[in-house]
Amino acid sequence: MLTETVSPALTQFASDVRQGLNTAGQKQLPSKYLYDAVGSALFEVISVIPEYGVTRADERILRSAAEQIATLVPFPLTVCELGSGSGKKTRYILEALSLHAELDYYPIEISAGALSSCERELSNIYGVNTVGLEREYIEGLRDVAQHRNPDTHLLVLFLGSTIGNFDSGSDCQFLSQIRQTLCCGDTVLLGTDLLKPASRLIAAYDDPAGVTAAFNLNLLARINRELDADFDLRQFEHEARFNQITGSVEMHLRSKKKQTVYLPSADCRISFREGETIWTESSHKYSLAEVGKLAHSSGFRCEQRWVDDEWPFAESLFVAI
Ligand code: TRP
Repeated sequence: MLTETVSPALTQFASDVRQGLNTAGQKQLPSKYLYDAVGSALFEVISVIPEYGVTRADERILRSAAEQIATLVPFPLTVCELGSGSGKKTRYILEALSLHAELDYYPIEISAGALSSCERELSNIYGVNTVGLEREYIEGLRDVAQHRNPDTHLLVLFLGSTIGNFDSGSDCQFLSQIRQTLCCGDTVLLGTDLLKPASRLIAAYDDPAGVTAAFNLNLLARINRELDADFDLRQFEHEARFNQITGSVEMHLRSKKKQTVYLPSADCRISFREGETIWTESSHKYSLAEVGKLAHSSGFRCEQRWVDDEWPFAESLFVAI
């Protein structure tokens, strides 16, 4: 008899989708599923959209502060990057560090496509030995930490604004988990997007060309492609809201009408009311005081901080204490 083999990753995806959509309250989908090959490519486009200032601010700071950062971190050094993306902005840091000493660089990524373009982008820096790890963040970090030479220090790069995508409170939990893999004196370079007027934030997360909308809707397209569901993408729309109370931009997919969608992997129908939404991601916007508190409550001290003047965004160097 022929038995169909279903990959464990697919089963996990199916069960996360079933659980997130089969609820009487706010429907939601885990944001990590936004980043399949199509989603990762669309995010690369988002990062160059004029209204989305995050990536350019991040890059400006890294370019201008790279040499200073290289004087602040202890050597010999191994660098790990959580969610490297294409790796373009990391080049500034690696080049500056490699002028001080040779080093190993481990980009850790769940997206195989992003990982291989990062390896390609950064493979030719003299003195930097790049080894990509296709793993979840903490898992990959533990692996590197366990195999390190005892006199080598770690620098963890967590750039962009990914820390803001954790649920409230989980940002601190996640940094504490990072701290547990580190030794005293090891460092983390953390990117955080800062609070700014709601109108600027909404424009950044709902751009007029509709790329962000396509990025968000691709999650439903992915469920159709991989789980054989029948979402009609034209009957859902992207929505970005700024929640003043939590200080977060919330991304939703709104059902334009009353409808049902069939989910064969769970053999069930999901019904939507007109206007009902699926919550797909939140992006928290920090105050500088909040970033300081975050360092403190997860076992770090904030050694140095750089803020971009065009687009309020901070890069902070945390030292494990
Ligand atoms: N880490 C990015 C951010 O919070 C992710 C992102 C940008 C995003 N635009 C989006 C996620 C739109 C969902 C929808 O800025």
